[in-house]
Amino acid sequence: MTAPDEILKHLIGELLNVSNLNGVRVLITAGGTQEPIDPVRYIGNRSSGKMGFALATEAAARGAEVVLVAGPVALKVDQPGISRIDVTTAAEMATVCHEHASRSQVIIMCAAVADFRPKTTAAQKIKKHAGPPSIELERTEDILDSLGKAKKPGQTLVGFALETTNALTNAQEKLSRKNADLLVLNSMQDAGAGFGHDTNVVTILAPDKDPQQLPLMPKNEVARAILDRIEELCRP
Ligand code: CTP
Repeated sequence: MTAPDEILKHLIGELLNVSNLNGVRVLITAGGTQEPIDPVRYIGNRSSGKMGFALATEAAARGAEVVLVAGPVALKVDQPGISRIDVTTAAEMATVCHEHASRSQVIIMCAAVADFRPKTTAAQKIKKHAGPPSIELERTEDILDSLGKAKKPGQTLVGFALETTNALTNAQEKLSRKNADLLVLNSMQDAGAGFGHDTNVVTILAPDKDPQQLPLMPKNEVARAILDRIEELCRP
């Protein structure tokens, strides 16, 4: 599309109140990953996937074509405009993200991806009579970091962070280290925020902008606030 066409499309969109995300491909990850120890045990985390699913629902409502890459979660989604791909491990999530990233204009890495996985997975259930096993861990790929390195012009990359110490300083550092355009810092301190809740308290960070601290809100409203910030970056 030529530049005048883009401007016309934008003006018509403004007049008709059409979202900047209308027709835009958005890749969203949600939930946690599970890294197998043996056929019955895994290393996981407490992510429910609710924030990522709220983002997918709201992006699709704004007309985006959403690919939702979900770790093992107990959530359902049947909204038109969302293609869901279920994965289990960080490696599987990475493969799917790399497959879809280059054709996505917006990428939102909301998933709580495991940073470490067992170096080997036991083929059979580990029996307790041999005593507590030592489990050697290795790093998983940092998907957000890889996507930040491969970011294309015009692509918007959004990361999440959960910090328990020096939250704002660590999150600012993470924003620039991972080459993200926005970073959503989850609170661990506030009541009603974090894993499993239907509400959340977040601060949205962007390079060279003051942090936007949001009050305790339902996750669908947090999703709206995040997508409003993303829309500002997607202006033609
Ligand atoms: N992330 C990712 N791949 C990983 C780990 C994290 O893509 N293997 C993404 C998450 O989806 C989230 C952001 O990176 O968007 C949060 O990363 P986090 O684990 O908080 O930060 P780290 O860079 O791993 O730093 P640290 O563990 O030191 O806090």
